[in-house]
Amino acid sequence: MTELTVENVDLHYGAAQALRRVSITARPEKITAVMGRNGVGKSSLLRAITGVHPISGGTISIAGTELKRSAPYARARMGLGYVPQGREIFPLLTVRENLYTGYAPLKLSERAIPETIFTLFPVLKSMLGRRGGDLSGGQQQQLAIGRALVTRPKVLVLDEPTEGIQPSIIKDIGRALQFLRDEMGMTILLVEQYLDFCRELADDIYVMDRGEIMHSGVAADLDDPDVKRHLMV
Ligand SMILES: Nc1ncnc2c1ncn2[C@@H]1O[C@H](COP(=O)(O)OP(=O)(O)O)[C@@H](O)[C@H]1O
Ligand SMILES: [Mg+2]
Repeated sequence: MTELTVENVDLHYGAAQALRRVSITARPEKITAVMGRNGVGKSSLLRAITGVHPISGGTISIAGTELKRSAPYARARMGLGYVPQGREIFPLLTVRENLYTGYAPLKLSERAIPETIFTLFPVLKSMLGRRGGDLSGGQQQQLAIGRALVTRPKVLVLDEPTEGIQPSIIKDIGRALQFLRDEMGMTILLVEQYLDFCRELADDIYVMDRGEIMHSGVAADLDDPDVKRHLMV
């Protein structure tokens, strides 16, 4: 039962402010979706949570423990898993080696590939010896999620996992997220632009515009014209 809370977070790139007093709560055993157009700060929010980019104000906590300035690997040890935008697979490493890169924050005794990864994405098992770069975009996305599951996270954050992926694999990814929530009890924070995917999966939603949270509520709110306005291109 691990809650992720972000309170009044500011984030800057030099003089440019990308997040303004952003507050969100990702509840245990729920999928929370953060939506918004390109450039509104969604990835910046995940960089703040994972510690990839420092925040300039506010607090971020996992299960009530404030993360302060802890490094990304320390946050991984605390139970935070991260699937970055664009997947960031190592193209010249095999699928097996890509999964092994997830071992980095783990002690030697903890280093084993959870079987759940292959239950959720059987294609990865049949492709363990293939190079990451030879996989399709959808298979690479499954690999990126698998790699994040290697640390057995309690909180999983994903940055646009459906981006540029064929519909059949989007369905597989949706089912995987439901399994992780319902059977594994994970807290899931999902950044997305694909409305139907969020409508189907999300328990809670937040809508961002220009670095700020403009709306928080439930998935059904996505049909509200005032909410839609922030999502239109
Ligand atoms: N490394 C960076 N350096 C400077 N500005 C950045 C950097 N990354 C993102 N930005 C800017 O911050 C804003 C938010 O970007 P981002 O968080 O990537 O948005 P989103 O993920 O919603 O598309 C944009 O204006 C973007 O140009
Ligand atoms: Mg982004």
